[in-house]
Amino acid sequence: MQKPQEIAPARGKLGILLAGMGAVATTTMAGILLARRGLAAPVGSLTQMGTIRLGKRTEGRTPRIADLVPLAQLADIELGGWDIFPDDAYQAALRAKVVDVAHLEPIREELSAIKPMRGAFYPEFVTRLTGTHVKSAVSKADMVEQLRADIRAFRAEKKVDRVVVVWCGSTETYLQHGDVHKTMSSFEAGLAANDRNISNAQLYAWACLKESVPMANGAPNLAFDFPAAIALAKETRTPIAGKDFKTGQTLMKTIIAPGLKARMLGLNGWYSTNILGNRDGEVLDDPASFKAKEATKLGVLDAILEPETHAELYGNVVHKVRIDYYPPRGDAKEGWDNIDLFGWMGYPMQIKINFLCRDSILAAPIVLDLALFLDLAQRARFRGIQEWLGFYFKSPMAAEGLKADHDLFVQLIKLKNTLRWMVGEDLITHLGNEYYD
Ligand SMILES: NC(=O)c1ccc[n+]([C@@H]2O[C@H](COP(=O)([O-])OP(=O)(O)OC[C@H]3O[C@@H](n4cnc5c(N)ncnc54)[C@H](O)[C@@H]3O)[C@@H](O)[C@H]2O)c1
Repeated sequence: MQKPQEIAPARGKLGILLAGMGAVATTTMAGILLARRGLAAPVGSLTQMGTIRLGKRTEGRTPRIADLVPLAQLADIELGGWDIFPDDAYQAALRAKVVDVAHLEPIREELSAIKPMRGAFYPEFVTRLTGTHVKSAVSKADMVEQLRADIRAFRAEKKVDRVVVVWCGSTETYLQHGDVHKTMSSFEAGLAANDRNISNAQLYAWACLKESVPMANGAPNLAFDFPAAIALAKETRTPIAGKDFKTGQTLMKTIIAPGLKARMLGLNGWYSTNILGNRDGEVLDDPASFKAKEATKLGVLDAILEPETHAELYGNVVHKVRIDYYPPRGDAKEGWDNIDLFGWMGYPMQIKINFLCRDSILAAPIVLDLALFLDLAQRARFRGIQEWLGFYFKSPMAAEGLKADHDLFVQLIKLKNTLRWMVGEDLITHLGNEYYD
């Protein structure tokens, strides 16, 4: 066994602020409030339901993850958020139509009391929305200061000891990082000069990093995956994790593709299409926002299949991803996958998947886990990119020059081994006793 890390206890209350109070955020809030009253089960959440094997199989030690590492309790969570529309969490949940009205009833009062703070919003990054509940600021630097003030005010008002933020806001237009994103000083200068390459999500991220508030990015757009932000995260000892929650079709892809690869089955093509009718779908109907999403969705297969080392199996894969905004569906997304694979002597086969999923139902446990694990990471003195949380993302961030793991099972091993390492337990190798004497 190695030495355990020093982890500060989860004393007092944890504030979870969600930037963007739409379908995912309100479904998360409703689930937390119902689960802590015992009125709903937090299905899909590792922190609430997951177990972890420790030591050798013969030892029979498999505690719950929550009993191994000191996580904040659901009862100690205070919820809040920002949005560019004034609806409180109850109204927003009704609008999102994910959680049944009857299910919302017992927590109506608590949800109604969660009123969004005004959003930091420059509309050119989300052209399909016209925000009515927005801050006004003389510069982007001023906008960051206002967001910082919001975090401090929330901390004081709710008497929370620690805060984490999860970006659950709309997908912004595709942006690559440029000169302004290179160093902390270039970024600060850009904020003061209203640089047009600094988006809304980046303003929230900068405010969090300045406040040493851990943040996760649930959307595919650029928030803190650039050198200036990573440097600031290290300087202010702030853990960050991103990006784009791994739900629905990509979750399926990262479950199935590693299996095909493990058996050295070849692939000619993978065609994925989705219909969805929620506000996220409306935003993604804009080609610029879809481009950000497409980039994170497309990267997954190549990273798993490694065509550069297996050209005869994966060198010519045609991979297409489509999303169609189809209002009648609301949040009940439907995804179809057609997989053209080949086996022994090149004989072709097909797999068809029809996943009738509920996007926000799959995303909500991710939001909760990220909030609790990021808070744990900060108390364990971790900082910068938290690669072990890549399990939760379509496009996991990795240290510069390194490729991220996309295989869900490799990601899970990494996550659990990090937890074992934190508390000084042996890492599991899966090596059987029969191999040595
Ligand atoms: N399974 C999933 O649902 C899933 C999976 C992966 C990623 N995501 C991403 O998570 C995000 C949220 O998804 P959703 O279904 O809840 O979308 P949604 O449209 O219901 O909610 C997004 C909310 O963000 C608000 N918003 C936009 N810009 C803002 C700003 N600058 N400040 C504050 N609020 C802002 C919008 O008004 C809206 O209420 C999206 O970016 C989506 O792509 C969702």
